[in-house]
Amino acid sequence: MIRTRALRKTFRTREKGLFGPRAVKTAVDGLDLEIPAGRVTGLLGLNGAGKTSTIKILATLLRPTSGTVTLDGLDLVEHAREARRRINLIAGGERMVYGKLTGAENLRYFGHLYDVPGAVLRPRIGELLELVGLTGAADTPVERYSRGMTQRLSIARGLINDPAYLLLDEPTLGLDAPIARDLRRVVAGLAAEGRGVLLTSHYLTEVEELCEHVYVISDGRHLAAGSPAELKAETGSHRSVRVTVTNPSPELESAVVDFALRLGVRAELGAAEQGGLLVTVRHPEDVAGPLAGAIVAAGGAIGGLEVTEASLEDAVLALTGSTASPAGGRSAVSA
Ligand SMILES: Nc1ncnc2c1ncn2[C@@H]1O[C@H](COP(=O)(O)OP(=O)(O)OP(=O)(O)O)[C@@H](O)[C@H]1O
Ligand SMILES: [Mg+2]
Repeated sequence: MIRTRALRKTFRTREKGLFGPRAVKTAVDGLDLEIPAGRVTGLLGLNGAGKTSTIKILATLLRPTSGTVTLDGLDLVEHAREARRRINLIAGGERMVYGKLTGAENLRYFGHLYDVPGAVLRPRIGELLELVGLTGAADTPVERYSRGMTQRLSIARGLINDPAYLLLDEPTLGLDAPIARDLRRVVAGLAAEGRGVLLTSHYLTEVEELCEHVYVISDGRHLAAGSPAELKAETGSHRSVRVTVTNPSPELESAVVDFALRLGVRAELGAAEQGGLLVTVRHPEDVAGPLAGAIVAAGGAIGGLEVTEASLEDAVLALTGSTASPAGGRSAVSA
């Protein structure tokens, strides 16, 4: 388990250029995180929340200003070299491989950096290239790779030391849907093998698919933690059922209102686009059948019925107090 206690990171910055007044920016402000083996843990938050800073500390690339990080009981700052053998980092959108070297040469180079013994390294390079579908491009210089191929090689690089813990900072950034799906499969497999994974991602459907436990942070501090289902329940981001009634009447409206009240929620009534009454009921359970039954029993004719699952994105946006998708119009939260 990777465990952080009261983790803090401040940066000294200069306002208005090199000779401007000094300012202190707190990127990570007292985080207690637990990243157990055998599970994918999510770290979510808006731009600038402190996700990358946290991940860089866990990867030993940044020293914390204060607080502690332990990896299976080992202090990460004091024993950085030892810890580094057991961790690796994959960041999307950043070039973490060398263009002049081939795919296989890159992996050999990084394997040596991690002190992987030659007898282990040789077969592992072949296995990893196979895992990420680059066997055919093993001897091609990386500068001739496409972006997706480069990213896949970065993933192989992240696994070269057979890490017990893998830190993924937006690993699918800029990947095509099929490659991103392959990567999700690989990540799920790594956790199933018993590795601990920490994931940040723009794509909350990806987080929802992979993560059993999610931390939501803002300004370097905790906002919430729990499973995606718990976060949705906590923020009232329920699944919604929308029914169009083609022959509305005041009696029918009060029957719908009573039905919802019996479930402990409020029915929302409005005009349907195609005419008639649009009834919306948000509830954690699937209430489509009972709602339709109540409408029919009250003499209503149903013109349409739609069930929308609550998304983790709704929950995270509610938690961060944001109403618009913050990542430039993408369906995203972490950016
Ligand atoms: N080297 C640095 N010097 C000064 N400030 C920094 C430095 N690195 C990060 N920061 C600041 O710390 C805060 C947290 O940044 P960080 O990159 O950890 O956020 P993030 O959650 O990864 O954001 P994003 O979603 O945009 O990737 C931001 O306000 C950022 O400007
Ligand atoms: Mg970041």
